[in-house]
Amino acid sequence: MRLKCTVNGERHEVDGVWEGESLLYVLRERLALPGSKNACEQGECGSCSVYLDGVLVCSCLVLAGQVVGCEILTVEGLAEGEALHPVQEAFVETGAVQCGFCTPGLIVATHDLLRRKPEPSDAEIREALAGNLCRCTGYEKILDAVRLAAERAGAA
Ligand code: FES
Ligand code: FES
Repeated sequence: MRLKCTVNGERHEVDGVWEGESLLYVLRERLALPGSKNACEQGECGSCSVYLDGVLVCSCLVLAGQVVGCEILTVEGLAEGEALHPVQEAFVETGAVQCGFCTPGLIVATHDLLRRKPEPSDAEIREALAGNLCRCTGYEKILDAVRLAAERAGAA
């Protein structure tokens, strides 16, 4: 099939796509957007999180045939050119990035949380990020990153 969709504000038309391949595969292998990570391909880890028409989804669970005509926003699309998004900066500054495999998904999930709840409690942060697994950090630095991003957004 020919897949027409918009990714990070750019329209794409991709030929030869199988309806049953995952959106994650389309992003990484067909559109050269490797930010979204492939860690489990089963909807368990959140590393592949993107927005699909404004809704946070695991792109490994979405089929290419479901995204025809849709708008997708990936972690790459959060940055403004060379300038990192404040959530991305907060992750770097707090040391919340170790191997980095979970980071893109956590950043998109944090972005989603803060647009819904600009001043989340720790419990709300934990709940919002419960679907994002990290094997390296022990989560404390990730909590610090979300708190910092929220603080800065509140001060802006
Ligand atoms: S790769 Fe999609 S949830 Fe793990
Ligand atoms: S930083 Fe390695 S999995 Fe989270």
